[in-house]
Amino acid sequence: MNKVCAFAPATIANLNVGFDVLGLALSSVGDRVEVSANGLKENRITEIISEIPLPTDPKKNSCTYVIEKMQASLGVDTYVDVRIKKGFASGSGLGSSSASSAAAAYAYNAFLGNPFQIEELLPFAAEGERIACGSAHLDNVSPALLGGIVLLHNRKPVRLPMPKELYAVSFFPKIEVKTSSSRSIVAQHASLDVVAKQVSAMGAFVVGLYSGDYQLMNSASVDYLVEPSRKILIPYFDEMRAVAMGAGGITFGISGSGPSVFALSPTLMIAEKIRNALEAIYEGSGIRTLSFVEDLKNGKGAKLCEY
Ligand code: HSE
Repeated sequence: MNKVCAFAPATIANLNVGFDVLGLALSSVGDRVEVSANGLKENRITEIISEIPLPTDPKKNSCTYVIEKMQASLGVDTYVDVRIKKGFASGSGLGSSSASSAAAAYAYNAFLGNPFQIEELLPFAAEGERIACGSAHLDNVSPALLGGIVLLHNRKPVRLPMPKELYAVSFFPKIEVKTSSSRSIVAQHASLDVVAKQVSAMGAFVVGLYSGDYQLMNSASVDYLVEPSRKILIPYFDEMRAVAMGAGGITFGISGSGPSVFALSPTLMIAEKIRNALEAIYEGSGIRTLSFVEDLKNGKGAKLCEY
């Protein structure tokens, strides 16, 4: 193939209970990356459509960095021009660098005739995270590539079941929080008691996913580890939690490294109610917002674009 375009979706990482090891795929919002043979001796970025400027140096851009790692692993020198269309802002907490990295890995793999199985693309996509924020965490790139809800165990994906009905509300107050800064403020040590509570919460949340027990998911959904340090970056965080849970949310928390927040909801109606309540809190604050509701059944991961 001479030209391939792939789409990979935004994602919600951590899900309160699983810092760096749990994430889910959204569907309607995401990035498109197109690769085309350039007949040269290097990869090039030929176009970036993005609200926020991104690196155009192929050594520093997540997409070309991922592609370079794939080329090195396969020993191929089929260089490409890369066009990137961001569907949402970087620094939003919705897995922006992962969506680009996953789309680049998926597109280049398809361009080469799929030498890698999709799960084998994860380490390459994680390298895109490393160049973007200094850490090769997998909790955004895994659902961005594979779809659904994914748990990482020994850096390998374990796909978790999706309850019959589950909706996500994503709410992005348009302030930039760099993942690297948001990671740097997380406390590096936790007491045994806190770790025990978090392990229990994570286990119970996963059981809740298997059994479709919203009540268990709700009571389990506590972030003892990172939310206490990070929530200060997000205006009105506690007020938002109160309205989201008051409206019937299953859980509310920070999406990835923030500033976006998320809620999970058992019905579309409750999800819309939560979204409206979150928007109302920011009304008149001077901070622009972007919010959306998604049926998580549609979160299928990376795919080829429809031209
Ligand atoms: N697990 C990562 C973090 C996700 O919380 O820093 C970053 O989007």
